[in-house]
Amino acid sequence: MIFKRKTNLTGTITVPGDKSISHRAIMLGSLANGTTTITNFLMGADCLSTIDCFRKMGVDIDVKDDKVTIQGVGLHGLKEPSETLDVGNSGTTTRLISGILAAQNFSCRLDGDDSLRKRPMKRIITPLSQMGADIKSEKDNGCVPLIINGKKLKGIHYDSPVASAQIKSSILLAGLYADGETSVTEPSLSRNHSEIMFNQFGIDCKSEGTTATVKTASDFNGIDINVPGDISSAAYFLVLGLITPNSEITVKNVGINPTRDGIIKVIEMMGGNITLANVNNTGEKTADITVKTSELHGCTIGGDIIPTLIDEIPVIAVIAAYAKGKTIIKDAAELKVKESNRIDIMVSHLKAMGCDIKATDDGMIINENVETPNKLIGCKIDSALDHRIAMSFAICGLNADGETDIPDSDVVKISYPNFYEDLESLG
Ligand code: S3P
Repeated sequence: MIFKRKTNLTGTITVPGDKSISHRAIMLGSLANGTTTITNFLMGADCLSTIDCFRKMGVDIDVKDDKVTIQGVGLHGLKEPSETLDVGNSGTTTRLISGILAAQNFSCRLDGDDSLRKRPMKRIITPLSQMGADIKSEKDNGCVPLIINGKKLKGIHYDSPVASAQIKSSILLAGLYADGETSVTEPSLSRNHSEIMFNQFGIDCKSEGTTATVKTASDFNGIDINVPGDISSAAYFLVLGLITPNSEITVKNVGINPTRDGIIKVIEMMGGNITLANVNNTGEKTADITVKTSELHGCTIGGDIIPTLIDEIPVIAVIAAYAKGKTIIKDAAELKVKESNRIDIMVSHLKAMGCDIKATDDGMIINENVETPNKLIGCKIDSALDHRIAMSFAICGLNADGETDIPDSDVVKISYPNFYEDLESLG
């Protein structure tokens, strides 16, 4: 797909449901007793992988448009799958479901696509094994395929070396089945959707600072969940509205949980014109967000804010490329183990478009040597089949000279199947 310069983009977008919350709703709805309904569910390929895995373990999950109805089987009602669980491209599915599978009274095998087969799973194998899990990387390389033989687990306290909601959630989900208490302390607080949803289902989960704690769970009942719009998907339109001349874009019903709202803070730090309206603070906080074309300046992004915007860094690199002065992104080495090495890819492609950018060990520095940003010129972009790279360069290409060509553009189906239609809708 080809992208060319545009101006005067105005309109209102409703982005699809939050990916992290959609995954967790399927998992907890499957383990609940009775019916769970999920509205505004993200029908992205990653979340469909999670549905597929639970269906293979005997859970009846009905999908109609963006509404999902689950007949939960109870905490101990999952059945041994007759085939390998295919987690596709989804790191979240893999890591979270492993915590659940580690405690079942059956064995199973998990496998995913080529990109997933390169992603580190030792980070969950280590703590789950400390809980008594029998979980092995089939090729002994710390990656999927994983073989998990369900075992009786015991609660642990785990000091996680990385701020990762996937690690934390994997351990807490295993903790629902483990004897005694299970707690995780992180170096910085990562997204807390699991903790919030545990409490919504009536599961006792306490959070204090960067520590989350669960006890052995007893049966819990299904609930109704309305998934807020995904701030990680909204981010593309926020950046587009800020960098495109004569533009004003509103994104409605966006989840602005404080463990996810780093992109809003960065936009404010860079001098972006951004306003929030209709703030709703019940459960997962939401708001309508409006941005207008702005004079942007660089800033430094690092420390505790990083986990709150980890998936937005590719598009933050794009906004920084169009901002005056230097932007430093640091403490973000985790970017190297996402769906692609997002430091290398952003740096090499933005450089190819003419941006002053260099990679560092834990991030990147943008516009270090130029007062006014270089004019960017479109080129061919290899997304490395990473949905967030494709969407970031679509936004970049709409503000660059020439043509930005993204051949494997349909990779956006992972998290935002209607991304291009929504882009087109802006007049
Ligand atoms: C996710 C957590 C983040 C994020 C991923 C989804 C989740 O990963 O990058 O897209 O749903 O828990 P880490 O918490 O491992 O950084």
